[in-house]
Amino acid sequence: MSGPQTTFALNADTSIPAVGFGTYLISNDDAETAISSAIAAGYRHIDTASGYHNEETVGAGIRKGLQAEGLSRADLFVTAKLWPGNPAWGDAPKTGAQTPEECDASLSRLGLDYVDLYLIHAPYGGDMRLEQWRALLELQAIGKARSIGVSNFNEGHLDEISAAGLPMPDANQIELHPWSQKPGLLAHMARHNIAPIAYSSLVPLSTWRTEPGQDSAKTDDMKADGAAFKGMAQKYGVSEAQLLLRWGVQNGYAVLPKSLNPERMAQNLDLFSFTIDDADMAQMATMDRGDGVAWASGDPSK
Ligand SMILES: NC(=O)c1ccc[n+]([C@@H]2O[C@H](COP(=O)([O-])OP(=O)(O)OC[C@H]3O[C@@H](n4cnc5c(N)ncnc54)[C@H](OP(=O)(O)O)[C@@H]3O)[C@@H](O)[C@H]2O)c1
Repeated sequence: MSGPQTTFALNADTSIPAVGFGTYLISNDDAETAISSAIAAGYRHIDTASGYHNEETVGAGIRKGLQAEGLSRADLFVTAKLWPGNPAWGDAPKTGAQTPEECDASLSRLGLDYVDLYLIHAPYGGDMRLEQWRALLELQAIGKARSIGVSNFNEGHLDEISAAGLPMPDANQIELHPWSQKPGLLAHMARHNIAPIAYSSLVPLSTWRTEPGQDSAKTDDMKADGAAFKGMAQKYGVSEAQLLLRWGVQNGYAVLPKSLNPERMAQNLDLFSFTIDDADMAQMATMDRGDGVAWASGDPSK
């Protein structure tokens, strides 16, 4: 891994930049400036979703950022996500016919004619899950999505696709950090050549999403457990955030840090000037606490 433009393979034709810029919880007031600043800082991968309700302003930021840097659309990797519906929330699952309409609506809001990766945001589609997946395969076939995948899918959800005899996803975007390492799911994904993309890498930071109204499910015990990360970060002369993000890319996971702070935005891209040594990787491997804490809303088995 040589620098911020390091990529990981997604399929025969597409690879994904190892560091992407996350856009969850970026308001419409902030998104245009945040995304254009991220592109100016060197990000070449933007992660968005219809569920973040900011696609129009993210799209404006993409156009502004590309123009300011003299870049073209092909220089940027953009991920968008289908909101699949969720019957548990009274939100009818999107049908196979609605799925391409949803993709078109996202493309139109973003001002793009294709995305590099289109994901089913969560396995909430129930009976419609396979129809949604078939629709994504069609979107890939007609070039509206260069690669396709899922997010928050467990082994059972992936098995449903293989049991139907359908091509498997290129990627599964999941919560991955030292406290949520998902070894069983990752091994299953590796057997099917499904690339992991890590979200909420910064959960173990003591400062992660602590402002009022932000829903952090961290226990006091977890909040207190920062000493090891602090010590390692000091040893490498980096921030705890860089350590956590480096843990992801060193394991081969693309990471998606979100920051509105220009210094942190730059810092989060600077992950290639140090390597976490084997002893520290081994210590971090012992820190797994099971399922994720960032996005525990709803039952993903449904
Ligand atoms: N597929 C899914 O279901 C799913 C779920 C969650 C997230 N995601 C994607 O993954 C992205 C990242 O996840 P996330 O937004 O949950 O969390 P994150 O990027 O892991 O953490 C963001 C938080 O960390 C702070 N931060 C960022 N860089 C920092 C640094 N260097 N030092 C200290 N604090 C720092 C940010 O505050 P400041 O802005 O003030 O710096 C913000 O409060 C999302 O934006 C989204 O694109 C996907």
